[in-house]
Amino acid sequence: MTETVTITRDGEIAIVTIDNPPVNALGFGVREPLQKALETLTGDASVAGIVLACAGRTFVAGADITEFGKPKQRPELRDIIETLEAIRKPTVAAIHGAALGGGLELALGCHFRIADKGAKLGLPEVKLGLVPGAGGTVRLPRLVGPSKALKMIVSGAPVPADVALASALVDAISESSLLANAVAFARDKAASGVAAAPVRNRGGQIIGADLAAFDADAAELARKARGLEAPLACAQSVRNAITLPFDEALAAERELFTKLVSGDQSRAQRHLFFAEREATKVPGVGKEVAPREIRRVGVIGAGTMGGGIAMAFVNGGIPVTLLEMNREALDRGLATIEKNYAISVSRGSLSEDAKAGRMALFAPTTDYADLAECDLVIEAVFEDMAVKREVFSKLDAVAKPTAILATNTSYLDVNEIAASTSRPQDVLGLHFFSPANVMKLLEIVRGEKTAPDVLATALGVAKRIGKVPVVVGVCHGFVGNRMLSARSADAENLLLEGASPDEIDKVFTGFGWPMGPFQMYDLAGLDIGWRNRKARGQLAVIADRLCEQGRFGQKTGKGFYLYENGSRTPVPDPEVTQLIEDSARERGVSRRAVPAGEIIERTLYPMVNEGTKILEEGIAARASDIDIVWTNGYGFPVGKGGPMFWADFEGLPKIIERLEYWHGGNGKDVFRPSALLKRIAAEGSPLSTFVGNG
Ligand code: 3HC
Ligand code: NAI
Repeated sequence: MTETVTITRDGEIAIVTIDNPPVNALGFGVREPLQKALETLTGDASVAGIVLACAGRTFVAGADITEFGKPKQRPELRDIIETLEAIRKPTVAAIHGAALGGGLELALGCHFRIADKGAKLGLPEVKLGLVPGAGGTVRLPRLVGPSKALKMIVSGAPVPADVALASALVDAISESSLLANAVAFARDKAASGVAAAPVRNRGGQIIGADLAAFDADAAELARKARGLEAPLACAQSVRNAITLPFDEALAAERELFTKLVSGDQSRAQRHLFFAEREATKVPGVGKEVAPREIRRVGVIGAGTMGGGIAMAFVNGGIPVTLLEMNREALDRGLATIEKNYAISVSRGSLSEDAKAGRMALFAPTTDYADLAECDLVIEAVFEDMAVKREVFSKLDAVAKPTAILATNTSYLDVNEIAASTSRPQDVLGLHFFSPANVMKLLEIVRGEKTAPDVLATALGVAKRIGKVPVVVGVCHGFVGNRMLSARSADAENLLLEGASPDEIDKVFTGFGWPMGPFQMYDLAGLDIGWRNRKARGQLAVIADRLCEQGRFGQKTGKGFYLYENGSRTPVPDPEVTQLIEDSARERGVSRRAVPAGEIIERTLYPMVNEGTKILEEGIAARASDIDIVWTNGYGFPVGKGGPMFWADFEGLPKIIERLEYWHGGNGKDVFRPSALLKRIAAEGSPLSTFVGNG
């Protein structure tokens, strides 16, 4: 076994190298030798300066998350930083790749930081439901000032090296030979004979900080926290850095960290961290499967989804050939894309030059022959099997032999679409979520015949464009929309029995969802569901009546709610209340107050149940994949870890008991507990760690 920490020498400069693949996380196996190395070097008179560097692809990416929740083993990271900070010789962190979380905190324990030009630095603990736990909130403001520190710590977003340099987080950028530059830097500092101040002693940025302005920023951030504890704790901790002496602020940070790390939200968010990584490991698609190269993507249809999908690829630097039925539709699609970029420019998140650069990556066309040069073509035309089949047979005729052909269908049978080509092994579903240039989730739908290298390519390209992919099997609605149907299966009955759209939505937002189901219907447009129901011979008493009155949601100013003067704020509408009451009377349904707990039982429990049916059928490989779908595609609150994780927390026996109760009353299949759910509950094992045997 190679050593995780080694000391080498370049003359009077010592280089301490951490080597703990894949990301140099600071597990006990690194901390112990690192502490020893620093102690040795402190007492070695022949050493004039120390460089702290990492082997492999990155600097330290953080504490070892797998150790959280287990008994602590000393030395802890804060012990090491204390040792580091007490060293009188200049210490220099040489940062390549990413310095994240505990990794950046370690670097903040050094006198100086030199970053490779491609490096990123950040404190992403908030995304794990935590505050930085080794002094990050106390030291970072001392370097970059409270306002920038607040933003970095509450967002968790890393900053690139140039931004880090501009804000004095790093002292220099290395264009090449990072280690050599770091050694030269340490040598210079040692030779200067001037003792460098540790970060803890640098008060300039926080003395006299504008606390009122800070509190206003923090209040704004708190408003967006939507029930999450960590962002608030992060803001409090940075505030402490301004108002308390260093050691007291440090102790307060530690206390917050300890409390959060043992809490449910952080457990849920850590579950999601690992779940997201697990989801990219697909049965039958090992590392030996080489992906195909994707240099140009084709998108067919420039409507709501096609336009967003095309933008997603262009934003990831991949040129797109965009095809529409005719010039008019193409111009309309391009105009929408241009308008979206213009909004980004007006918000300051995109420069005019960058916008022009992106627009130049679109090759618009109405000629299928132009798709011949594409390595991947995604169809986003009308949701109609006949249209899709026609598009795929045309595509089959022009696409190059190695091309991958994808459909963005929401519900249609991907196997049937694949069968309309001569190459079903090259066909799969790539189900994006609206708006496709924003939403992270990508359901990769594996058809019966989809080849492993096609899946590997899809996973790779998803990462390139910043999507979170989950591989799912073919069924009506795949994972997300199928569970969404289960969630809404009893919603109309809740309305008839006495809950208002507003009451139901408030239960959802109180749970942590960004919006409730009725707000969502209004946003998406009620006419879509209406059309689908009519095609399938289905009924929805209230929604159908709303549609018959031309109430299609936000786009018509009326739906389940009223939207006055183009506003997007839903206002409860007495006309809708009347309509619901009339419908209930006609059906002989007596109305009553419906408690919040019942709303949860009749919406989220069937959704969990449907998830277990999806697992039973092998449509999803693991329960945690379902959690990734729901937290990234539908706004399930991350602090609850996704529906499967939440179900464990809620208690499987309770869920089964209530499902059976409601099933006894309404006989709906979505309420009949699946055999798998019953089995897992009987075994007393968790649902969220369930892995199928496919
Ligand atoms: N602890 C344990 N394992 C970690 C880890 C960590 N901090 N960071 C990454 N890993 C593991 C991943 O689970 C994955 O394992 P797998 O191969 O078995 O699935 C492997 O390392 C590679 O990770 P990625 O697939 O994510 O690799 P990428 O190259 O895509 O990304 C990265 C690299 C940007 C460093 C990314 O891994 C990342 O963001 N890591 C987490 C960073 C983080 O959250 N740090 C803060 C930790 S909390 C902390 O430090 C508390 C402190 O304040 C006390
Ligand atoms: P849309 O109606 O906004 O866009 C469809 C576009 O396809 C139109 O611009 C139309 O001119 C074009 N088109 C139709 N036939 C064509 C053909 N033969 N050749 C070239 N272009 C053609 O529809 P939307 O909402 O973008 O949906 C597209 C697909 O994406 C559907 O399969 C839908 O189920 C799916 N989807 C929709 C989501 C949504 O939220 N709207 C979410 C996820 C998937």
